[in-house]
Amino acid sequence: MKTIAIIGGTGAGALFAAAQSAGSPCETPFGPTSGPIEVCEPDGARSTFCYLARHGVDGSIPPHAVNYRANVWALQAQRPDFVIAINAVGGITADATPGRLCVPDQLIDYTWGRAHTFSAGLDARPQHIEFTAPFDAGVRARLVDCARDLDLNPMPNGTYGVTQGPRLETAAEIDRLDRDGCTIVGMTAMPEAALARELGLPYACCAVVVNRAAGRGDPGDSIHAQVQRALDGGMEQVGRLLRAL
Ligand code: HPA
Repeated sequence: MKTIAIIGGTGAGALFAAAQSAGSPCETPFGPTSGPIEVCEPDGARSTFCYLARHGVDGSIPPHAVNYRANVWALQAQRPDFVIAINAVGGITADATPGRLCVPDQLIDYTWGRAHTFSAGLDARPQHIEFTAPFDAGVRARLVDCARDLDLNPMPNGTYGVTQGPRLETAAEIDRLDRDGCTIVGMTAMPEAALARELGLPYACCAVVVNRAAGRGDPGDSIHAQVQRALDGGMEQVGRLLRAL
């Protein structure tokens, strides 16, 4: 029996509908989590899921205001075998099309001003975690293999550019991310991934491309309209993937 922690992003709440109903946020030394941690054992499953909605049950917490430290700390207390982060993202490269899943192997952090480490909190000693490979290779391989078995045509790697938000990027900013080597862009993988590493949690990201990034889509097709079209279908694929896992 494995325990799998899930941090659900925009649109992921429907996957764990029970987590939308009851419970209070967890208190941690870093303040409250975004919402309750819902523990569920789906019928017939050989895993226990601990689900936390990153943006809160009602989705009202914007990316820069998420209490990433509290969330990761509280999930760690559930002693999960690994953590899967679900993130809605924009697609930068031509193959990152709306509806497609991507399991990134790299990231570039463009965020600022977020509480991004535990080491200045409970333990005064700086902790220089290794972060050469920011996502856990074993968990990534499971996600990719499972998605392939389901014929979901996932992107098996990619570089996630993490922007500050909450606004979307300018076209020139996306050009810059493209030059930097980013495949996808989102607002929430950092500091979450680094905090998980600080606590020794194997962590990987299952990104769902929900729009073409700024300046990369058809002119006249707004980003919000694209997200509306792609989100449900993308999350439905994530649901199938989690059930298969
Ligand atoms: N940019 C940043 N974050 C996002 C996007 C985007 O285009 N789409 C979904 N999250």
